Amino acid sequence: MKITVVGAGAVGATCADNIARKELATELVLLDIKEGFAEGKAQDMMQTAALLGFDTRISGSTNDYSKTANSDVVVITSGLPRKPSMTREELIGTNAGIVKGVCENILKHSPNTVIIVISNPMDTMTYLALQSTGLPKNRIIGMGGTLDSARFKYQLSTTLNCSPSDLNALVVGGHGDTTMIPLIKHATWNSIPVTKFLDEAQQQTIINDTMVGGATLTKLLGTSAWYAPGAAGAALVESIVRDEKKLFTCCVSLDGEYGQSDICLGVPVVIGKNGWEKIIAMDLSADEQAAFNKSADAVRNMNDVLKTL
Ligand code: 2OP
Repeated sequence: MKITVVGAGAVGATCADNIARKELATELVLLDIKEGFAEGKAQDMMQTAALLGFDTRISGSTNDYSKTANSDVVVITSGLPRKPSMTREELIGTNAGIVKGVCENILKHSPNTVIIVISNPMDTMTYLALQSTGLPKNRIIGMGGTLDSARFKYQLSTTLNCSPSDLNALVVGGHGDTTMIPLIKHATWNSIPVTKFLDEAQQQTIINDTMVGGATLTKLLGTSAWYAPGAAGAALVESIVRDEKKLFTCCVSLDGEYGQSDICLGVPVVIGKNGWEKIIAMDLSADEQAAFNKSADAVRNMNDVLKTL
């Protein structure tokens, strides 16, 4: 199994570190445009192998895509992260060109790969990856909802004082501060609806804190977060390479599902060796469906910006 992570910044390096520790690949390539940077990160990570006991071989490459040849999975983290008070959407001008170039280079050397997109604005970058590679839609996966659902579980767990891994909770829609939809009415604590334990005000606080989860960290850190985004990317890689068929919310191409087409948006999907293998239909309430449609409108407007670049 060969995996490539493009972009050796904080998110890419954290994702690669998780992939190595879990031994998801025999060969892991870290690629970056900055001279020597990916090589340095790869060497540093390799020097943890004797301490952590993994056998994955990690190598770095300065923009030489031939080193990524025949990757089974490629994770794209390239592009600028957001700065405090910036939205993810404001990154489109710079990141669209970068992500398009990365996709074209990846495709030349790994025509059968599955691509996981982390770069922002993630929904539009996923749509761009689908269009620029022409790969079958099942092989293009945007990571956003996986991260947002983990943040939702974090917020729920702190209020409920429970283990985050005892929770089932999904965030659907876009990966934007105003476009994501934490589905609190569907969330459970080991099958018991969380709404049983939370009044309306608590529910609203959890929803709001989840939606600005990334922005809160950007304010605290001065740049966007990396531990949870990197771990979310690696969790998707794991479900693919081990063919786990786990259910995650991911940004995928919709073809009439949830009433939307010609768009990539976050919905529950099964992730296995073929990429996203199945979209799971949920029964959304009228309010939830209206929020989903509104989210789709916002993402579609962002996708339209691609035509002007
Ligand atoms: C975040 O929400 C990087 O978009 C990512 O932290």
